[in-house]
Amino acid sequence: MTAFSPVDRPRRLRASPAMRRLVAETRLHPAELILPMFVREGSREPVPISSMPGVVQHSTESFRRAIADAAAAGIGGVMLFGVPEHKDATGSGATDADGILNVATRIAAEEAGDALVVQTDLCLDEFTDHGHCGVLDANGYVDNDATLERYRDMALAQAAAGSQLLGLSGMMDGQVAAVRDALDGSGYANTPILAYAAKYASAFYGPFREAVQSSLEGDRRTYQQDPANRREGAREVDLDIAEGADIVMVKPAMSYLDVLADTAASSPVPVWAYQVSGEYAMIEAAAAHGWIDRRRAIEESVLGIRRAGADAVLTYWATELAGWIR
Ligand code: PBG
Repeated sequence: MTAFSPVDRPRRLRASPAMRRLVAETRLHPAELILPMFVREGSREPVPISSMPGVVQHSTESFRRAIADAAAAGIGGVMLFGVPEHKDATGSGATDADGILNVATRIAAEEAGDALVVQTDLCLDEFTDHGHCGVLDANGYVDNDATLERYRDMALAQAAAGSQLLGLSGMMDGQVAAVRDALDGSGYANTPILAYAAKYASAFYGPFREAVQSSLEGDRRTYQQDPANRREGAREVDLDIAEGADIVMVKPAMSYLDVLADTAASSPVPVWAYQVSGEYAMIEAAAAHGWIDRRRAIEESVLGIRRAGADAVLTYWATELAGWIR
């Protein structure tokens, strides 16, 4: 009896590590990794975030060291979040030159030099006592246009502090145009905007709430997108590009790879993805139980996001991953 012999043998190109390396379609490089970081006001020591093992709310000192480590690892940038001591209804800490995020930005810019791009989250939720991404009207609804005024002021404070890329994550209508106008009118025409263009109302932001000590009750569904909608993601991306976004982002990453692939296929500007806190927590938790191989899962998850079309990825593993792939 003669054995059946297939005509096509894709396995030929999988036979050795060297061959697999040669034919790999997607490669990871440190320059396309961006590290999100939390800096806590008034803290002498870094404070661990229990739902994100390995991630901390930095003290100024540990923050400096982490910036130096990130630069040494060759990653492309850092995305900064502030954890203020005091919060209020309008998020006044966000526009205060001495507010924690603006202080951290100055430190990062000084520490990083030209080694990486210092980026800042432009949103009010870390700074408001109610935890929403904007200011509220008399009915408790997030007031879109009043919030835009706050974002304009926040943008100027961040640009003045030395932020090299403003990450607009609040999902207010018209936020890119409003911030672009404010920057252009104040001598910051060369400060670029990263628009969190397709940002979904996701359960995967859960650990982030602990990271920034958010007091949010309820959810963000009146401004972040419904996870059911793919077409709506495309609309948000188109609007942000038309309003002047220099880079667009899809967020979260792993549950929205279709939206990411759509965006990558149509966008004339770079497309990034944010592997968010819950995605990090899931892999860390499973790995801690010995249920998955930690390093392989991390590499595969980021590779998958790149393969789907992200030009760069925000990930809490950026520095560690850069060390592996360098
Ligand atoms: C808004 C913002 C959030 C995240 C990044 N920017 C929270 C939210 O929109 O609810 C989440 C990031 C993460 O979960 O890792 N400032």
